[in-house]
This record gives sequence, structure tokens and C-alpha cells, in this order.
Amino acid sequence: MDTKIWGITSEDVKTPLTSETTSKLEEIKLAYEYGEIVAIPTETVYGLGGDATNPEAIGKIFHAKNRPGDNPLIVHIHNYEQLESFTSYVDDKVKKLMDYFWPGPISFILPLKDGVLASSTVAEMDSVAVRMPSHPVARKILEYTRIPIAAPSANLSGKPSPTDAGHVINDLNGEIFGIVVSEQSEIGLESTVLDCTQFPYKIARPGHISIDELQEVLEAEVLEHQDTMERPISPGMKYKHYAPRQPMIVIEGGINSNTNLKVPDDISKEKVGVIAPETVRQYVDKNMQFVSLCRDEESYREAAKNLYAALRHMDASDVEIIYIYGFKQTSETEALMNRIYKATGNTIIKG
Ligand code: TXA
Ligand code: MG
Repeated sequence: MDTKIWGITSEDVKTPLTSETTSKLEEIKLAYEYGEIVAIPTETVYGLGGDATNPEAIGKIFHAKNRPGDNPLIVHIHNYEQLESFTSYVDDKVKKLMDYFWPGPISFILPLKDGVLASSTVAEMDSVAVRMPSHPVARKILEYTRIPIAAPSANLSGKPSPTDAGHVINDLNGEIFGIVVSEQSEIGLESTVLDCTQFPYKIARPGHISIDELQEVLEAEVLEHQDTMERPISPGMKYKHYAPRQPMIVIEGGINSNTNLKVPDDISKEKVGVIAPETVRQYVDKNMQFVSLCRDEESYREAAKNLYAALRHMDASDVEIIYIYGFKQTSETEALMNRIYKATGNTIIKG
């Protein structure tokens, strides 16, 4: 399949729209209406979108990503009317969170109203994850098409999520109908997923919006994300995700002049990769391949934005083992460290 590429920047969707932008939006709308799938930018990561009410489109999404069918998709919306069309009940407490954080990087799991969405969108569950993204291009596409768009991250299953259109092209060119090429995703990690089907609400996936922020707005307790595979006592490779092909090891406590980045016997220093803040470069052997993640140890937002590109860079390089810097654990670094642990399969060394 010849994948169609549309370039649309945030600048392009400012009103009044040019006729060129309008015709691109029209083509995208038609594609969705015909059950085709089109990747779009969002502020978190690029998503692989399709009409959430159309089982054919949903089938194409699962197929293109090689995603297991029991993993439900997030449905992206433009307004509250759409939300009400396929959820059965939205509590006032959830509304309060939506009013505060939407449009933005948080998805709410809510009870599903029967008969509107394709059952495969929600993997036959009786709940649905919903998000109203803030990226101007995503918003414009959702507004223009008026279709609730199911969109998982636009990567092949198991690979790091795409934060740049180039990543989507690498993974899915020739496999999907179209790709909207726009800016690098501002946040770089997937949305916080909050399970609101039971009170107290519970973090199903940590993201940019932290548990502290949620509790503050809600004025109530939110339950922490629980993933027993997250930080087991002994290293393991079981729960690998978002991962480059090489073994990756997180250096807990960070890297400094005392850190020994061990070179395995059977490889040379040149085949060792290190992903860390720029300030750490001075402690790393010049022969190793250093990828700078952010300015310094405190710039974790910049690190989040650049993490997946760094993993993809290493994946495509000739390094055979990767060390990655472990940031201080706080509520604000939780999502970043969650993805780093997953990418390493929880292989940890104390720095
Ligand atoms: O930032 C994001 O959320 C991006 C962009 C494109 O919006 N999307 C994204 O989708 O990360 P995906 O499919 O890669 O991740 C969706 C996550 C999965 O972990 C899935 O299991 C969970 O949300 N999820 C979706 N619906 C659910 C439901 N009804 N109940 C429990 N978990 C659900
Ligand atoms: Mg994903």
C-alpha cells in the first residue's frame, strides 16, 4: 500500500484555514469515513487513528500494529457530546477532573454505553478509556471529522511509542492508509490513564499528569498504579515493553565519577551505549556511544520528551548493550521511570 503523507503543522490549523489545509482535512475525514486508518500527532505521542464505531477500521489498527486483541484502545474526542454518546455515566468528580485537565494528556476509564462503539475498540470490555487531546492538529482533525477516533500509539507493538512522524514512517509506512506529519510530540510519554469505574479512582498507567496533581484537584485520595512486575527485587526480562532490541540496564541512583559502566568481556567499549543527561557525559568513557537525554538531572520533562527517540536511536545503532540513567524517584518522575524500567525489563544496577 502506498501510504499517503499529509504535512499539517499547528500553525496550519489556526483559523482561517487555507484551502490547502481544508482539502487535507477533507481527505482525512473521507479516509476515516471509509474505514481507513490514519496516524495523527498528539501532544503525548503519535496515535494510529480509526473510526471507533467501525469494526473494520479497528481491525486494521490491531493488524497494522500487531497488537494483541485483548488490549483495549483509547477513544479520542473533541467535545462532551461525543463523550455522552458512548459512556453511560460520568460522575461529577470525573467532570471536575476533565474540566481541569482536558484538553490534555489524561485518559479516563468510564462505564461504556452499549451499541455505539465497535466492541473490538474496547476489547469486549464494559468500560472505555477516553481522551480529549490538546494538540492543535489532533483537535482540528477531531473537530472537522466529528468522529470519535480510537488511537493507540502509532508504533509496532513492543517498540517505543513514536514521538516524531519519522518514527511512524519507520514502523508503519506501506502498512497504513495515511500519516499526518507534524511537529515532535511535546510531552513524549503516553497519557496518564485513570480508572474511574470505581471510587477511589486508580492510576492504571502513570503519565505526565501525576497522582499528586490529581489528588489536589479532586480533593480526594487516588490509588497508586500497581504493577507487581514493575520493580521486582531481582532483575528480570519478563515484562519487556517500549524496548530497543539490545539489553538495557538502568543505573539506579544515577551516574557519577564513581560509577563503573562495565564492559562485557565479549564486546568492545565502542559497542556500549549510554543514555543520560548531558551533565553526565564527563563521567562516561569517550569510546562509548553517548546519547544526551536532557540538559541535567533535574530536566526530567525534557528527558521524557526525548526518551523514545533515544531508545529508537540506540535500537538502530550498532551498540550491543545500553546503560540508562536512573532519575530520582518522585511523583513527577514516576511516568518517566516507569517507562525506563519497562524498557529495561527491570534490569537494575545500583550506581
Ligand atoms: O497518550 C496516549 O494515551 C496515546 C495517544 C495516541 O493518545 N495513546 C496510547 O494508547 O498510549 P495505547 O493503546 O498505546 O495505550 C492505551 C492503554 C493501554 O495500556 C490499555 O490497556 C489501556 O490504555 N486501556 C484502554 N482502555 C482501557 C479500559 N477500558 N480498561 C483498562 N485499560 C484500558
Ligand atoms: Mg502503546
